[in-house]
Amino acid sequence: MPTPIVAGNWKMNTTVGEAVTLASALRDPLDAIEGVEKVVCPPFVSLLVVKNALGDSSTAVGAQNMHFEERGAYTGEVSPPMLADLCSYVIIGHSERRQHFWETDEVVNRKVRAALEAGLRPILCVGEGLEEREEGYAESVVTSQLRGALRRVDSIATLAVAYEPIWAIGTGMAATGEAAEAIMVAIRSTLSELYGDAAAGETPLLYGGSVTPDNVAEFAGQPNITGALVGGASLDAGRFAEIARQFAGG
Ligand code: PGA
Repeated sequence: MPTPIVAGNWKMNTTVGEAVTLASALRDPLDAIEGVEKVVCPPFVSLLVVKNALGDSSTAVGAQNMHFEERGAYTGEVSPPMLADLCSYVIIGHSERRQHFWETDEVVNRKVRAALEAGLRPILCVGEGLEEREEGYAESVVTSQLRGALRRVDSIATLAVAYEPIWAIGTGMAATGEAAEAIMVAIRSTLSELYGDAAAGETPLLYGGSVTPDNVAEFAGQPNITGALVGGASLDAGRFAEIARQFAGG
């Protein structure tokens, strides 16, 4: 079993000052939790101050996105080597990037490969929309996003996959543990087919979408769910630490 990962996606929230306050409030409570990889993903402009605020704590820092090129004339973008100095994780292909910034499976694929090349651990996001779920396509949408994102990726040794049904993100309507587990099984078997059982078995599979301290046990109790990607509840130090604690087994 891989070590579970509990990652906080702060999205476009927190000023630099607020990010320092939140990271400082998280530091000790998260340090007290063992057996879980804890990650916080602040906005780009706060990566450095959050890294400094966490100091030598056991909590890792991640970015929420990046460009796939190493450098060049891409005004406003941030490259993988720039991030590699500041953090160890990067969220790739979040549904908000796919929806509002038109990221296709091909772009997501280029980003996954660039992240791996730069030594960053990608948290690759996949997930179906409400209509796709209602029409019975959830599993095929997710596995096709996964295959698309992993084209020409040779090794998934440092990859984590986050299953985030779009209809569950920020809505307070989390998936049931059982429904999420069913998709995780499909993700795991796709990874097995592509990379073999051992590599697939070692890949952390995170659930994301309205995770709270009240519902996290439902996900943490599933055999194929090894972590959570948390949005709203990650902006509150106490709630985020409680979610991480429950993945550590209480
Ligand atoms: P949420 O967001 O926890 O606020 O639903 C999760 C995410 O988008 O990563």
